[in-house]
Amino acid sequence: MRIPVPFTLIIFGGTGDLSRRKLFPALLALQQGGHLPERFQILALGRKDYDNESFRTSIMDGAPGITEAGWVKLLPRIQYLHMDVSKYEDFLKLKVKLTSGEEKDPKSSNHLYYLATPPDLYTHIAQTLASVDLTRETGGNWRRIVFEKPFGSGLESAKLLNQELTNVLNEDQIYRIDHYLGKESVQNIFALRFGNGIFEPTWNREFIHHIEITAAESIGVELRGAYYEESGALRDMIQNHLLQLLAIVAMEPPKAFLADDIRDMKEKVFNALRPIQGESVSDNVIRGQYIDSTIRGISVPGYRQETGVAKNSTTETFVAMRAYIDHPRWQGVPFYIRTGKRLPTRVTEVVIHYKAPVHNFFPDKLTADTGENQLVIRIQPDEGILLKLGMKVPGAGFKLKTIGMDFHYSDVESTSLPDAYERLILDALLGDSTLYARTDGVEAAWAFIDPILKAWQSNKRIKLYGYPAGSWGPNESIDLFEDEDEDWRYPCKNLTGEDTFCEL
Ligand code: BG6
Repeated sequence: MRIPVPFTLIIFGGTGDLSRRKLFPALLALQQGGHLPERFQILALGRKDYDNESFRTSIMDGAPGITEAGWVKLLPRIQYLHMDVSKYEDFLKLKVKLTSGEEKDPKSSNHLYYLATPPDLYTHIAQTLASVDLTRETGGNWRRIVFEKPFGSGLESAKLLNQELTNVLNEDQIYRIDHYLGKESVQNIFALRFGNGIFEPTWNREFIHHIEITAAESIGVELRGAYYEESGALRDMIQNHLLQLLAIVAMEPPKAFLADDIRDMKEKVFNALRPIQGESVSDNVIRGQYIDSTIRGISVPGYRQETGVAKNSTTETFVAMRAYIDHPRWQGVPFYIRTGKRLPTRVTEVVIHYKAPVHNFFPDKLTADTGENQLVIRIQPDEGILLKLGMKVPGAGFKLKTIGMDFHYSDVESTSLPDAYERLILDALLGDSTLYARTDGVEAAWAFIDPILKAWQSNKRIKLYGYPAGSWGPNESIDLFEDEDEDWRYPCKNLTGEDTFCEL
């Protein structure tokens, strides 16, 4: 597919952190990879006082890993426009800027607006763009808007936001980004499940005992304390990234690899999630908050000591939950989901735990930890797949041990994994929304999360457990497992090398 050219990418919040860290490097990589056409321009908007030259310098300074030579071809395409989004006249100024070249090249009104701004500006920006006639698609030109997360802070606000946006835009002009969907290793789950004959027939309750999804981060909230206070781990990671991941793991095969077919199937998963509400919340969801500790000899502050965080904050920085999908494929299969800040390592993975053979004719002492196969889908880092199998130890007697068959992306020749933003920006330019969230999916995910948030707000007896920074969260998260002898996988940096980096 080719991007209809020429186009202008307009970045609201062009001087912000997301633009500097993610958007400009992704655009650079796209250009270097030959994915962008000859004719396009980028217009960064912001309130800081830059001219084109000083803004371009600031982009280079903001990405010290990239040499000046690397930027040479992209920088001339980037312009900066001072803009205060609270001023209507600044939108008119933007319009003049965007349309002044149109007489020469009428198709230059292909516009991708990227809203890298605080979410409370989304409606205002979309409405004002519409009111100055910058969102109307005419004569084959397209105009799309990318919205960063969070998309709403609960079901009601997400519905309101959707309503307000669809009043001024068509659904196919709205791109709700979830950067997890752009991760190569997340997309590979589609390939693994639907591109191989061996997995799909066993991808169900007959063969699978339970599924674990972990997204652990070793960093704390850093400079985002004020945002995080309002968000917490459930909203920040589970409502979007981890439920999206769960939907891809659990969905029925779509009719075709097309945006709406895939999003239809994901929505069915969200709708089939068994509600966790009222009294069942404390049995199925464990929340925690990191407290100060010493990690590898360095003292680390607790969440309540972080900048922008209230001294008596009850915001959760860790969530573990047990969820069920009421669908014939998954009836009775628990999905254990866990995320947290200040855990021992940064890792995201999905672990499929298969059932043990129905009839195990090896004596227990020979099989030890074998018998239950695991398929580990490592999303990051050390992206890859590991299948754990039981095999006979060579030599006399008959002893079994677990071995791993592993595939690492890093071993694949010429594979440098693109950043999720590269893929997602390119898709928005191409008009492919397969990897973007749809209105109904976002609302259905909130409908599952909302009762948990409400129970936490209204029932003060539901505990918020403290956990030392650098640990795997409250031990109570282990009690979520149905079977007493089960536990989480405690993964470390390397896909196969357990316990290499996690020891504290
Ligand atoms: C963001 C969250 O959406 O995802 C952050 O707001 C989190 O709190 C980040 O750190 C994690 O993304 P990744 O790609 O590093 O796993």
